[in-house]
Amino acid sequence: MRIFITRVIAANAVSLLETAGCQVVQHESKSELSPNHLISLLQDFDALLSVGGPVMDGEFLRRCRHLKAIALMSAGFDKIDLDEAAALGIPVSNTPGVLSNATADVAFLLMLAVSRNAFQMHKEILKGNWNFFDPMANLGRDLEGRTLGIFGMGNIGLVMARKAAAAFGMKILYHNRSKLSPEQNLVQATWVDFDTLLQESDVISVHANLYPATTGIFNRDAFRRMKPGAIFINAARGKIHEEQALIEALQKGWIWGAGLDVTNPEPMAPGNPLLEMPNVCVLPHIGSATLETRTKMAVMAAENLIAVKNGLSMPQQITP
Ligand code: DGY
Repeated sequence: MRIFITRVIAANAVSLLETAGCQVVQHESKSELSPNHLISLLQDFDALLSVGGPVMDGEFLRRCRHLKAIALMSAGFDKIDLDEAAALGIPVSNTPGVLSNATADVAFLLMLAVSRNAFQMHKEILKGNWNFFDPMANLGRDLEGRTLGIFGMGNIGLVMARKAAAAFGMKILYHNRSKLSPEQNLVQATWVDFDTLLQESDVISVHANLYPATTGIFNRDAFRRMKPGAIFINAARGKIHEEQALIEALQKGWIWGAGLDVTNPEPMAPGNPLLEMPNVCVLPHIGSATLETRTKMAVMAAENLIAVKNGLSMPQQITP
């Protein structure tokens, strides 16, 4: 089986594929592959391991209908038309679970950084603005005992809830399509409707998948209904919040601050007003970016493709 990988991934995942008898080609250039370029390259391959590559819409998939499998090296699957892949008989897999800790850590980091204005303090020091100890300046917000509202209580949301409850005794609310079973709900999180989540959370942390129902759900109306002084964190997908609405909410002081590991578009343009705001921390989509986690993701994606080579179904298949 000939496999094309859209970026360079952990060497042991590549070795695993090669040991299983696959021929592997990685896209070693730092340039972005356009959909058309990738489609033309893929004509010589049997399977794709996709990491950060272009959107694979219906047209893309129809032009790659010969593929035997697509393994995404991500938990999210918003970049691919799963219905079309299923209709064409191309199995698709993702890498759930292995990145939950690392991604929740980044949400946690942002929550803490925003509550104490950490990025802004750092910028001020770089500008030479550390003068004297002012007891009424540089004041942040306590997190101890506050209410954390999780939007999207999947693997990552659960880990974030656990960490926040353990570290700060935070009370956990969540909004999700399904409710947690008692076995899953070790932090005594309470399911609430979306409106209650907005109105009662001191911090809202977004961990949902990007679906039509979650696209732009954090809009002007949602930010307006959030608790005054609340913090908004998004470590899931940038399209879940409307950027202009978030900027307005921050400028008008409806909320205290925001921490974003994801933006729309990515990368965020250097002149974006959010980058100049004191209570905003932005990171370049590094949720799963630890050596250990990216290695586990690469290995999981490779194992999914090896299963196909061996005539088996992919362990993490997400197409029906
Ligand atoms: C994921 O796994 O979905 C991360 O956000 C990287 O895309």
